[in-house]
Amino acid sequence: MAESSWSFAGTEPAPLLGSLRIPGDKSVSHRAVMLGSIAQGTTEIHGFLPAADTLATLRIFEQLGVNVVRGETDQLLVQGVGLHGLKPPTGPLDCGNAGTAMRLLAGLLAGQSFDTSLVGDESLSVRPMQRIIDPLTRMGARIESESGLAPLHIVGGRVLSGIDIQPEQASAQVKSAILLAGLYASGPTTVRELRPTRDYTERMLLRMGCDVRIESDLIVLQPPQQLAAQVWDVPADFSSAAFWLVAASLIPGSDLVLLSVGISERRAGLLRVLRLMGANIEVLNTRDQGLDVVADLRVRAVKLHGIEVPIDCVPDMIDEFPILFVAAACASGVTTIRGAAELRHKESDRLQVMADGLSAMGVKVQTTDDGARIEGGLSLHAAAIASHGDHRIAMSLAMLNWARALPGTVLNVENVGTSYPEFAEQLLQRQAPLQISRA
Ligand code: S3P
Repeated sequence: MAESSWSFAGTEPAPLLGSLRIPGDKSVSHRAVMLGSIAQGTTEIHGFLPAADTLATLRIFEQLGVNVVRGETDQLLVQGVGLHGLKPPTGPLDCGNAGTAMRLLAGLLAGQSFDTSLVGDESLSVRPMQRIIDPLTRMGARIESESGLAPLHIVGGRVLSGIDIQPEQASAQVKSAILLAGLYASGPTTVRELRPTRDYTERMLLRMGCDVRIESDLIVLQPPQQLAAQVWDVPADFSSAAFWLVAASLIPGSDLVLLSVGISERRAGLLRVLRLMGANIEVLNTRDQGLDVVADLRVRAVKLHGIEVPIDCVPDMIDEFPILFVAAACASGVTTIRGAAELRHKESDRLQVMADGLSAMGVKVQTTDDGARIEGGLSLHAAAIASHGDHRIAMSLAMLNWARALPGTVLNVENVGTSYPEFAEQLLQRQAPLQISRA
């Protein structure tokens, strides 16, 4: 794939005003396609995120024999084949950069009658898969892999049994892989979480008629006879909105409203943390969309100050740490992060990559095994910084260059299309002095 980069001219940004529509939630989009495919009847998805990660999931289910009709831009009709109606694919299933696709699919495919192989790109091929191989193996699955890494070969025709398990990581992907295998198990599956994580899988299954008991850190699923197709309204992705929450806090004179953003407790931890840092964010028109609570988020520019990030917020903002680093770099005083070792296993080692990038721009950052200490409010200078092919690192560094009028460059930004294909276009619409180069 061509390496591309973003260069900023370093001119003062205009205030962010008016309103902005953010694309659909990635976690919900993946799950709506997966669960719709094994449901009875036709699932309607409104607000689907048409990004590289979620389109990889869509293509995989087409390879597994599911018919998907694409309506207007973000609408999909998934013609479910039932729990046992998927067909053997003719080749490997390519998850691209999508960890959610690979880990959840491993669980779902472990219960099928045929073999499958899951492959991914360079970054996904070095991310840990043992965390799902171990519990699925305990359920009776057979997953062949070298050193716990993709590609994964999943042997079909296995008899799965339910388990009662506490995964070693607080991870929605691990929990979901186990629950999806549990759909095909001979008895109940219980997952006890170290800390509660995003709960879309279990809440969606509940809406589809599955017998799932959900308590704060405990989920008990009974294998269903069938799952009923639904209409899913996908909220705007809080993780994508997060870049704008920080940019509008930092760009003087901003007063921006982000429309219909999913703010369920397990996703919106950054809201709590930014407010502790002094951010001025109003939650307006809160409404229950069935699957998620959504609201319009009005954010106004303000001076932020450093804080100690509460450890219980960490799983609820796991994807928002790169942009939190940016907020911390621009805030007065010190921000400390602890309990976030999982950041080292994302699309890149996000603790190290953000620390290196910010240090090169003049921020004082020290990392620990599971966190960082960021001294904010120092004067910054422009630099060319590698995003290591990590979409959220690229977007975070872009917001920093823009908001602080730095003539910097963000390198290898091509993976931004995995979660937020319109990002650069939306920056340009708001007069960001951005030049896009494709090598
Ligand atoms: C996701 C869970 C999180 C998150 C990822 C999406 C999901 O990963 O980082 O972007 O959709 O379940 P972990 O569960 O591994 O923390």
